[in-house]
Amino acid sequence: MQKHKVGVIGLGAIGERLIKGISQHESLEVVAVCDTAKERVEKVANELGDIQWFTSHLTMLEEAKVDLVYVAVPPKFHHKITLDVVDKGIHVLCEKPLANSVEEAHEMMQKAEEAKVVHAMNFPLNYSPGANTFAKLVKENYVGKIRRVELNMHFPTWPRFWQQNDWIAGREQGGFVLEVGVHYIQLTQKIFGPLKHATSSLELPEDPTKCETGIFASLTLEDGTPFVMNGLSQIPGQERIAYTVYGSEGTLSLINWSELEGGKLGEDILPIPADETLSSSLLNHLSLALNGKESELYSFVDGYHAQVILEKLRESK
Ligand SMILES: NC(=O)c1ccc[n+]([C@@H]2O[C@H](COP(=O)([O-])OP(=O)(O)OC[C@H]3O[C@@H](n4cnc5c(N)ncnc54)[C@H](O)[C@@H]3O)[C@@H](O)[C@H]2O)c1
Repeated sequence: MQKHKVGVIGLGAIGERLIKGISQHESLEVVAVCDTAKERVEKVANELGDIQWFTSHLTMLEEAKVDLVYVAVPPKFHHKITLDVVDKGIHVLCEKPLANSVEEAHEMMQKAEEAKVVHAMNFPLNYSPGANTFAKLVKENYVGKIRRVELNMHFPTWPRFWQQNDWIAGREQGGFVLEVGVHYIQLTQKIFGPLKHATSSLELPEDPTKCETGIFASLTLEDGTPFVMNGLSQIPGQERIAYTVYGSEGTLSLINWSELEGGKLGEDILPIPADETLSSSLLNHLSLALNGKESELYSFVDGYHAQVILEKLRESK
């Protein structure tokens, strides 16, 4: 397979994480990096073997020869930067959430489709054995007829210790609904089909610049089955994210992104081993797509559909 050249824009917590994976991939290589923070971009470029570095994404798009750009900047910059990438006819991988409004997400989806580039989102649950085993068990009727889907998100502190920055604590483009909720909105749409928003209320701090500390939302699957989203931050205890489906014959949960547990009626809830053969890799699928081969990617279309629900949940902001 041909080795594809990747440019990375945004070298924060997640950008640096994926750079490692790209650098180790047999058919991808990072050839250019960009960040508005000069010290950081110089350091990363050095570590990657003195590759090209830029503090302006426009200059990078002019001067670096790249097949794919990975956009890992904060959400409110996704729209502008991604459209600049797509305008050049360059394939793009964008961080979630796709954008910072439905309008932005729609334009990004439309322009990426028109440009006929590969457009993908980083929704890692789709490649993880836990979430894929969850989806398989639902498909195999483990829980029977679905009665309710629930997402419970509990964070002792928000932002979490590993992702301390201003924007993630802010109302404009941060908060756990946007940052964590979007993964489960997309997963729910993939496993259970389209979602409809019914009602939601956010608990918001008095400071209008600070993000939510709570959400309680009621949504439905297409057939009217309830999907309940409940989240709180600034509470005692451990972080816990529980995604659960209740059915006529049993219950199944995905806990903290990867651990499965479940039980049938009359039984205890017990751990269920994830089927490791269902593990796959975003980067492998990207590489297949760049080579014109069949792949499993979650595109800007998926990002757009998730954004529609996300913005309904954020509306009272
Ligand atoms: N897929 C996932 O599981 C996952 C996990 C965490 C974060 N994210 C997403 O990744 C994105 C980045 O999050 P983060 O936690 O790494 O943020 P961060 O604030 O740690 O890093 C963002 C970086 O982008 C740089 N930047 C900002 N504006 C820029 C611009 N115009 N041009 C170039 N560089 C610019 C900043 O200097 C910073 O280094 C967000 O969209 C976030 O929602 C995704």
